[in-house]
Formats: sequence, structure tokens, C-alpha cells
Amino acid sequence: KANERESLYLVSDFANTYFQKTLHKTNQGKAIGLSYFKERGFTPETIEKFDLGYSLDEWQAFSDEALKKGYKMEFLEKTGLTIVKGDKHFDRFKGRVMFPIKSMSGRVLGFGGRILTNDKKAAKYLNSPESDIYHKSKVLYGIYNAKQAIAKEDNCFLVEGYTDVIQFYQTGIHNVVSSSGTALTPEQIRLINRLTNNITVLFDGDAAGIRASLRGIDLILEQGMNVKVCSFPEGEDPDSFARENTLEELATYLENHATDFIRYKASILVNEAKDDPVKRAETIKDIVNSISKIPDRIKQEIYLRECSKIMDISETVLFSTLQQLTQKEI
Ligand code: CTP
Ligand code: MN
Ligand code: MN
Ligand code: MN
Ligand code: MN
Repeated sequence: KANERESLYLVSDFANTYFQKTLHKTNQGKAIGLSYFKERGFTPETIEKFDLGYSLDEWQAFSDEALKKGYKMEFLEKTGLTIVKGDKHFDRFKGRVMFPIKSMSGRVLGFGGRILTNDKKAAKYLNSPESDIYHKSKVLYGIYNAKQAIAKEDNCFLVEGYTDVIQFYQTGIHNVVSSSGTALTPEQIRLINRLTNNITVLFDGDAAGIRASLRGIDLILEQGMNVKVCSFPEGEDPDSFARENTLEELATYLENHATDFIRYKASILVNEAKDDPVKRAETIKDIVNSISKIPDRIKQEIYLRECSKIMDISETVLFSTLQQLTQKEI
């Protein structure tokens, strides 16, 4: 089994080199892939740093090259890079710009590939399927390039997508990773927790996304980490915002807009519930539930006090709600 995993690593590493070569050395790669990255404002250094690549718009160009080099079909299929149907085989990634996904130690585990057209019918991103080396719930895009900066800055920025990571990095903020559009998992949080106790979650500027992400954040509190959140102006995501601003402007924005998570949640909930007593009651339980996830009792108490002020409800009621919640769990 260890041998087989090694074979999957080797195939993935070959693919990574192949997609980069295709980007830089073929006419199609240069005309379509490189110009796409340029249009997005990625510099040659950035493209190199993140090993960005391109997959030819052909049925089996990659697979045939890999087979020719002696890589076995079995392993090409198990990484998902090749799709086998009967006696035919196809490349999974065709005519896409390629983002290799690496482990903490820099091994290539899988890929994300973005289409270049604005075809609304096709999925914008196609990702490697789960395999013996790629478990999407256990990896964070960008962690290999970010790990030193996360430890040094003692904070990790968490963004939604590949290009958010890359644009932040290029702008000069290196302590940034992405859960690649999926809900954050405990394993992913543990990866960050090894490097720092502080996470700042950055949302795309759309209300639906923010509400959805708020729930997942309790998982970060459960691991005893400090969480801040920060949103961007409507219609912006970290990528577009970083592109339009200098490092100084971006850093200033983050400093001024990153808000403690509990404080943030309390104020949006209190706003939503305003004059509706039933909603208000639900809201109070919701926020106390988040607070109940914090392992540190002293922090819990500090937050309860603060929420009592923000939500205009007595500390006593909040404390007894907290006690009820924690008793239920025992
Ligand atoms: N994603 C995915 N499959 C999709 C759409 C999104 O896997 N069909 C993941 C990708 O990792 C993507 C992230 O979710 O980076 C965030 O999605 P979105 O905000 O829609 O994309 P962006 O990262 O902003 O990509 P772009 O700027 O290229 O449109
Ligand atoms: Mn490289
Ligand atoms: Mn989004
Ligand atoms: Mn986005
Ligand atoms: Mn984007």
C-alpha cells in the first residue's frame, strides 16, 4: 500500500511538470494559458511559485505522454488524471489552466483546473477526485508556500479560492490558504493549529456566502483558536480586492475590518432579530452555542459579558443558557 501511494505521488509529480511545460513551451499553452494568467495579473514569478500549468485541449495528450514515459495506466487512473472507459482512455483535464494542490511538505496531491471560457454550463473548476494520496478534507491549498509566514506572523488568513491565495501572495501577504470552496473541516483546522493559534476568515463579498461560513467557524472555536472575520465590499473577493490595491492599502483594510468572530456574529444577529422576540430568543441561543464551543472558561466568560452588552440581555440569562447547553452535551 505504501508502494502504491508512492506510485501515485510519482504520477502526480510527473503531471505537475508536464502541465507546466505545456504552459510555457507549447503554442496553445502560451497563447491561451499564459495569456489568461497575464490577464489576471499574475507575474512570471507567481506562476513559477505556484507551479501553475495548462492542460492541452486534446482527448489524451497527457495520458499518452505519461504512458510513453512508462507510467502505468493503473496509477494514472487512480489519481483520476486519466479516465478509463472500456478500451478507451481520456484526460480528465482538457483546455484548463492548472493549479497543483500540495501537501504541507510540498508533494503534489492533486489538481484544480479552471476553464477559460465563460461557458455557464461547464463547471468553472474541475478538481482531482479523492484518491489514496488526495483527501480534499485534509488539505489546504497554498499551505506549502504559506507555512513559514503563518508561523512568523502568528496568524493565518483563510480565503475561498485558489486565485485569492495567489493574488494575496503576490501582493505580499504570504500567510494565506484556502479550503477550495468546501466547508472547513476539523482536519484542515488542525493543520493551521500546528502553526498558529489565530485565524482570520476572509469572505467573498456576497451575503449568502457569509451566512454559510459562519456555521463552520464554530469548529475553529472548538479547537481553542482565536477567530476573526473580515468581508470585502459587495462583488469583490480577496483576489479582486488585492489586485486593485497596494500591499499597504490591503494590509490597512484587513487591520481595520477584521473583527472578532463572536463580536461580529452577535452584532449581525442582533440586527437581524431586532424587534422580533421569537427570533431574538433563537439568536441568543445561537450565539451562546458558539461561545459554548470555546474550551477556555475565562474566554467564555469574557465573551458572555460582551454579548450581554451587544445584544442587550442580562448576563445572568446568558450564563444559564450556557449552562443548559453544556449540560445537554454531557
Ligand atoms: N470551486 C470548485 N468548483 C466550482 C466552483 C468553485 O471547486 N465549480 C472552488 C474553487 O476552489 C474556487 C473556490 O471554490 O477557487 C471559490 O469559488 P469562486 O469564488 O466561485 O471562484 P474564485 O476562486 O473566485 O475563482 P475565479 O476568480 O477564477 O472565478
Ligand atoms: Mn517550480
Ligand atoms: Mn464565492
Ligand atoms: Mn471568489
Ligand atoms: Mn475570484
